[in-house]
Amino acid sequence: MSEDLFYKPPTPIQPIHSSVAEKAGVQWVIKRDDRIDPQISGNKWRKLKYNLQCAKEQGYKTLLTFGGAYSNHLYAVAAAGSLFGFETIGIIRGQEFAQLSPTLQFAQSCHMQLELWPREEYRLKEKSELFKQIQEHYDSFYMIPEGGSNALAVKGCTEIIEEIDIPFNYVSCACGTGGTIAGLIAGLHDKNICLGIPVLKGGDFLKSDIQELLSQYYLQEGKTIPPFRNWQLETNYHFGGYAKTTPELISFIHRFEQENNFLIDQVYTAKMLAGIEDLILQGRFKRGDTIISIHTGGLQGRLPQLSNM
Ligand SMILES: Cc1ncc(COP(=O)(O)O)c(C=O)c1O
Repeated sequence: MSEDLFYKPPTPIQPIHSSVAEKAGVQWVIKRDDRIDPQISGNKWRKLKYNLQCAKEQGYKTLLTFGGAYSNHLYAVAAAGSLFGFETIGIIRGQEFAQLSPTLQFAQSCHMQLELWPREEYRLKEKSELFKQIQEHYDSFYMIPEGGSNALAVKGCTEIIEEIDIPFNYVSCACGTGGTIAGLIAGLHDKNICLGIPVLKGGDFLKSDIQELLSQYYLQEGKTIPPFRNWQLETNYHFGGYAKTTPELISFIHRFEQENNFLIDQVYTAKMLAGIEDLILQGRFKRGDTIISIHTGGLQGRLPQLSNM
């Protein structure tokens, strides 16, 4: 498969309008990865690109992955299957749906085979008894982990940094499984500082996951892992935990969208941006610093009750 099939032009970088940043003399900009592709958007494209290429090269016809009923990753894998000619299997956490979520309805419309698993089995993933049945039933498949984070996903995310053509001091992203930030860290080569905002409570456990993903990436590249010191996690901006919101977060989204004229989701990018704005307010950055925040997409999961502009 030619690399060209996966070519996307660099995503734009645009200023963020924020009176907080203006007062602090900080240049705050956003890299609009949400605009990569309408369905395989943001970090999903970055994470899937080399996985899809690898699956094609190795002759796989089917992709299998895992996710919750509102998973951006599952949505993107289903769309990628249709676009690049793979069958797809989605193993879903939980069976309690009277009606499929909009994400799962979309996945089904892309012909993804949905397997709804009890939560206990889901926790075991490929070690579960149900997985043996899947292996017996389907000939072979290329497996992509939950959230899409593996060494090839990290490689894809390093390209976010390669596309940046302006000088900057900081780059920031939302963190779930840690694959995206691992790619940013590797792409930065220990220059500049990477700030990760975990969207789950107790995000400190992520540090070792990120280290592990970096190790896998450098192993795959046949290089020794450098002793990176250029990244930090800011764990105070989960707003109650994964997929939780607070009135404060909702009013941040409304204000931010009005001032900036583009949409952000409440699960990932809004928490990251609200966190960065708060850090600016607290004087974390000096006058003249440039911060590049990454819009990692996820708009398919944006709450419908957040008004459309
Ligand atoms: C829209 C969006 N942004 C950010 C993230 C966090 O990325 P990661 O899981 O690589 O930390 C995710 C989850 O994958 C996501 O769906």
